[in-house]
Amino acid sequence: MSEIQRVGVVGCGLMGAGIAEVNARAGLDVVVVESSAAAADAGRSRLEASLKRAESKGKLTGTADDVLARISLVTDLDALADRQVVVEAIVEDEDAKVALFKRLDAIVADPQAILASNTSSIPIMKLGVVTSRPTQVMGIHFFNPVPVLRLVELVPSLLTAPETTERARSYVEGPLGKSAIDCQDRAGFVVNALLIPFVLSAIRMFESGFASAEDIDRGLVLGAAHPQGPLALADLIGLDTVKAVAESLYEEFKEPLYAAPPLLARMVDAGLLGRKSGRGFYRY
Ligand code: NAI
Repeated sequence: MSEIQRVGVVGCGLMGAGIAEVNARAGLDVVVVESSAAAADAGRSRLEASLKRAESKGKLTGTADDVLARISLVTDLDALADRQVVVEAIVEDEDAKVALFKRLDAIVADPQAILASNTSSIPIMKLGVVTSRPTQVMGIHFFNPVPVLRLVELVPSLLTAPETTERARSYVEGPLGKSAIDCQDRAGFVVNALLIPFVLSAIRMFESGFASAEDIDRGLVLGAAHPQGPLALADLIGLDTVKAVAESLYEEFKEPLYAAPPLLARMVDAGLLGRKSGRGFYRY
């Protein structure tokens, strides 16, 4: 049984809102900090829409309003002082995250509290060493959409205490109902380190004229039982995100298989980002 009751989330974008939602649905008390009142309003709308959807599908215990009542959305980080876990889900920017972890270190009172980042590509060690308690800092990496996908990657740095990882495991596998895998603090962790080079290979295959986008995707769906093909998946993730993760993998390992193909770079330059922009390898 996890002893964690009071959770903090920083950032209420795509991931932060999902993380806040699963915590509140688990009955935990959640404080979410956004950077401005306007961003907090946008975060609240995101949460309300998702919870109403879950309610209408009969997936909630209680009502959307019951769950929302467990979430406070604020703009002042000091509201995190009494939290037992804080999950950071702000923009993927090392300087911004470093500045935030310094502030969290000063604000969160419980020396045993877990200070976690949901980062996909920034080394956890960079965040641990700017605090006075690197033993308590780790990665807890959720997957989008957080209320749907069960996996969580647990990422201790070289300085994280083993007890911190074990408490995080009880928290994500207990109240949150997720399934955890253990990863080292290396770019891409397990899932992206395998998935991104696969997606990049499909982009290279398409770029070379070897096969059409539709045939590449149909091949993997019908021939390998993937739920969707790699190019449709790239459109769903967002081509800017695929490129950013590829670059962090390449930066870390210097392996050609992680290098972003020129077509991917040009598409991002052109604003063809996939579903979110209406056009990527497909039109939406
Ligand atoms: P997003 O851009 O949707 O949300 C970021 C939010 O953080 C925004 O609402 C912004 O207003 C807020 N924010 C920025 N600076 C802040 C600060 N100093 N204090 C409080 N709030 C602040 O980004 P998204 O996609 O939710 O990503 C967040 C993190 O999750 C990143 O580290 C990303 O690498 C990671 N991640 C993203 C996944 C995805 O599929 N998008 C999957 C897994 C991890």
